[in-house]
Amino acid sequence: MALAGLENEELKLIIFGGKGGVGKTSCAIATALALSEEYKTLLISTDPAHSLSDCLEQQIGFKVVKIKGNATLSAIEVIADEALSVFINEHRDQLRKLLETSTNLDNLDIDEMLTLSIPGIDEVMSFKTIIDFIEEGEYDKYVVDTAPTGHALRLISSPKLLDEWIKVAARMRWKYRYMITSFSGSYKQDEVDTFLLSLKKTVKRIENLLRDKTKCEFIPVCIPEAMAIMETGRLLIDLEKAGIISHQIIVNNVMISEGCDFCKRRKAGQLPYLQEISNSFSNLNKVEVPIFAEEIKGKKALKQLKKCLFEDSPIY
Ligand SMILES: Nc1ncnc2c1ncn2[C@@H]1O[C@H](COP(=O)(O)OP(=O)(O)OP(=O)(O)O)[C@@H](O)[C@H]1O
Ligand SMILES: [Mg+2]
Repeated sequence: MALAGLENEELKLIIFGGKGGVGKTSCAIATALALSEEYKTLLISTDPAHSLSDCLEQQIGFKVVKIKGNATLSAIEVIADEALSVFINEHRDQLRKLLETSTNLDNLDIDEMLTLSIPGIDEVMSFKTIIDFIEEGEYDKYVVDTAPTGHALRLISSPKLLDEWIKVAARMRWKYRYMITSFSGSYKQDEVDTFLLSLKKTVKRIENLLRDKTKCEFIPVCIPEAMAIMETGRLLIDLEKAGIISHQIIVNNVMISEGCDFCKRRKAGQLPYLQEISNSFSNLNKVEVPIFAEEIKGKKALKQLKKCLFEDSPIY
């Protein structure tokens, strides 16, 4: 079976996730390459251990670059710390005023606060960067490569985290608003309130996008091994809880050859796990990808992987 439905016009965001080392980056790149044949595509890595550059054999960083020899494919590696700095620099005045009016911190303390990282804020900022790209609308498709499972889950639960942060800030503001109203009899909304409201809207936009099955799809990548199957199971449960449903799963590293004794034994060893994948994830379409003789690096190997993902009966 091949990956299906990714060409639907409405589908904008395709996220790859799964256990460490199962082939997320390779599959995300091959998918972006396939989509770029028809659509203007942006490939985004949110993995702090960025590996797009290695696989594509081209330097990619926190700036959109065109992929060599492909006019319709661009890529970026989101660096969470830098995304946070951009956000703080853009909203320094509002953040400063929020802290000035709602805390007893002096200027020095506030400056220090603005250099501190809030736990979990990196994923929020990574996701905000993705949403900003989607809203700018320059591309038709956005393909996201994530770091191993925990990171992907933190990424998709980032709107909740940002929402909690906004709630705390709003409570702090409420006290300030109460004081102003008590002293002057009225309160006029200021730029901090506008800023918090716009952040709240961002949270809603991220949540709506993630839960919109026509616009967003999460593709888990798994391999026929016990630990990977267990982790995929947990990932799918957490995704469902977050309102994100997957339709298809990539089963990577499947042994095809029976040429030698080693291959025969590896293939036989995988059979029960392949069966378990079929049973456990029976609601998902399975796209099996064979294990290649060499690592997936460079154009030729990626083209081969693309065939495995998008052709119903590829010739290995
Ligand atoms: N089907 C395959 N056959 C052979 N090698 C593969 C296959 N799929 C992936 N690989 C290789 O396995 C390694 C891990 O793949 P990849 O980087 O895509 O996984 P990942 O899930 O993104 O890993 P990480 O969790 O570290 O980000 C790479 O060296 C890649 O070239
Ligand atoms: Mg990777």
